[in-house]
Amino acid sequence: MKVTVVGAGAVGATCADNIARKELATELVLLDIREGFAEGKALDMTQTAALLGFDTKITGSTNDYSKTANSDVVVITSGLPRKPGMTREELIGTNANIVKSVAENVLKYSPNAIIVVISNPMDTMTYLALQSTGLAKNKIIGMGGILDSARFKCYLSEALGANPSDLNAIVIGGHGDTTMIPLIRYATWNSAPVTDFLTVEQQQKIVSDTMVGGATLTKLIGTSAWYAPGAAGAALVEAIVRDEKKLFACCVALDGEYGQSDICLGVPVIIGKNGIEKILDYKLNETEQAAFEKSAAAVRNMNDVLKTL
Ligand code: LAC
Repeated sequence: MKVTVVGAGAVGATCADNIARKELATELVLLDIREGFAEGKALDMTQTAALLGFDTKITGSTNDYSKTANSDVVVITSGLPRKPGMTREELIGTNANIVKSVAENVLKYSPNAIIVVISNPMDTMTYLALQSTGLAKNKIIGMGGILDSARFKCYLSEALGANPSDLNAIVIGGHGDTTMIPLIRYATWNSAPVTDFLTVEQQQKIVSDTMVGGATLTKLIGTSAWYAPGAAGAALVEAIVRDEKKLFACCVALDGEYGQSDICLGVPVIIGKNGIEKILDYKLNETEQAAFEKSAAAVRNMNDVLKTL
């Protein structure tokens, strides 16, 4: 397996580090536009091999896409990260051009690759990648929901005193502070509904903390987070390269599912070697469906901005 990560910034490098440690690829390419930057990070990571015991070959490249040729999976993290007080949506002007040209370059050398989009605003960048490349919709996957679901489980585990791995919880909708929908009604603690153990106030706080999970970190760190985003990206790569048939919330092109079309939005999907293998139809109640429609409207507004760029 060959995996490429485009963008050797904090998210890209952390994603690559996780991919190497888990030996998800025999060959891993890190690419960045900054001269020597990806080469440096690749060399630094390579020097951890003797300590961590992996044998993934890691190569860095300064914008030379020929090095990425025949990748099975390509993760796009390129673009500016958030600054404190900034929404993901404010990044659209800069990141749209970057993501479009990265996706086109990637496909020149790896026409069969499955593309994972992490760049923000992620839902719109996934839509843009799909529109600009014309790839089949199972092959372009936006990564936001896996991260948001991990944050949801983190806040749930703190409130419940639960081991996070005992929790099942999913966040659908957009990957934005006001567009994501943590489905607390569906969340379970080893099969028991978490709502049985939490007051309504606790539930509301967990949901709202999850929604601003990224912004909270940006305020603390001064830029976008990277440990959980990088690990979430690697978890998605793992499900693809190991054909795991994992159920994740991913951003995917909808064609009537959940009442939406011509949009990429986070829904429960099965991930395997073909990328998105199936979209699951969760039975949303009226409130959840209304939240999904509101989320779709906000993401659609953002997608419309693409036409003005
Ligand atoms: C976050 C960014 C990566 O949520 O979108 O941390």
